[in-house]
Amino acid sequence: MEPVIVAHGGAGKGYFLEERKKGIADALLSGYKLLKEGKSAVDAVVECVRVMEDNPHFNAGYGSAMGLDGTIEMDAAVMSSDGKFGAVAGIKNVKNPVLVARKVMEETEHIILCGEGAERFAKLMGFSEFDPTTEWVKEKFKEKKSSYYKKLKELAELYGFGTVGAVALDVHGKLAAATSTGGLMFHLPGRVGDTPIPGGGTYASPLGAASASGHGECIAVNLVSFRAVDMLKEKPIHQVLGILKDEIPCRFGIILLDKHGNPGNILNADYMVWGYVKEEKLQVLER
Ligand code: GLY
Repeated sequence: MEPVIVAHGGAGKGYFLEERKKGIADALLSGYKLLKEGKSAVDAVVECVRVMEDNPHFNAGYGSAMGLDGTIEMDAAVMSSDGKFGAVAGIKNVKNPVLVARKVMEETEHIILCGEGAERFAKLMGFSEFDPTTEWVKEKFKEKKSSYYKKLKELAELYGFGTVGAVALDVHGKLAAATSTGGLMFHLPGRVGDTPIPGGGTYASPLGAASASGHGECIAVNLVSFRAVDMLKEKPIHQVLGILKDEIPCRFGIILLDKHGNPGNILNADYMVWGYVKEEKLQVLER
C-alpha cells in the first residue's frame, strides 16, 4: 500500500504563517520517512506531531498558549484504526504531550490521564520536566492580562486558536490520528478541549482518520472527528467534507484521510496551514 501522511498546524488567526508552513513541511517529511521504512501509522503521526510540538511557532508542546492563571495545561491524543486510544488532558511541565499520550495508549488500561496524575505518569515513564513557555506567549499574556475583567470569550478570540495534528495511512493499510494543543489562551484552569476526547478532536477507524482544530467545546460536543470518519462508510471524502462544512456549527478546521489514501481539509475559521505527502510529493497549503 502506498503510504500517505497529512498534517495541520491549527485553525485560527494567521500568526507565524511562513514559520508554520516550514514547520508543517519538516513534520510531514519526518513522519513520511518512517512510513516509507515500513513503520506504523501510529509511529508516523506521533513523530509528525512531536516535531510540531518542538517548534515554538505552533500552539502545542513548546509554544503552548497560557491559561487565565498564567500556567500552561496541554492536551494530546493518539488513536489507531484498530481502536486503541490514549490521551493526556491538562498536563503541565512536559515537552511532548503526544509521547505521553502514546504511553497511555500502549502501557495502561486507561484511555485518558489528566492533570497531576498525567504528570506523575509521565515522570514514571521517564519523561523529564520541561517548561513549555515561550517569550512570545509570555508577551501576549502580559499584553492582554489587564483586560481579564472583559468577557473571557473575547480574550480567547483575540488570541485565535491553534492546535497541531496528523493522520496517516501506512504500508500495511492501517490508519492513525494524533493531535496536540495548548488549548485556548486565557482558558479557565482545568479546562479540557476537544483534542483528548475520542471522536472530538481525534479519531481513527478502518474507514479513515481525522484530526480537528478550532473551538474545542463546540468540536467536542459535535463529535466532529468521529462524524467525519464515520460518514466515509457511505460517502466519498469530498462529499463528507462538504457536509461537515455545511452542518458543523463551529469555528473549526479538520484534516481527513480515507482508507484509500485520499487526503482532504476544510476550514470554517480565518486561517489554517495544512499539507500532505503522497507518492513522494510534498504539498503545503494554506487557507
Ligand atoms: N481545539 C483546541 C482546543 O480548543 O483546545
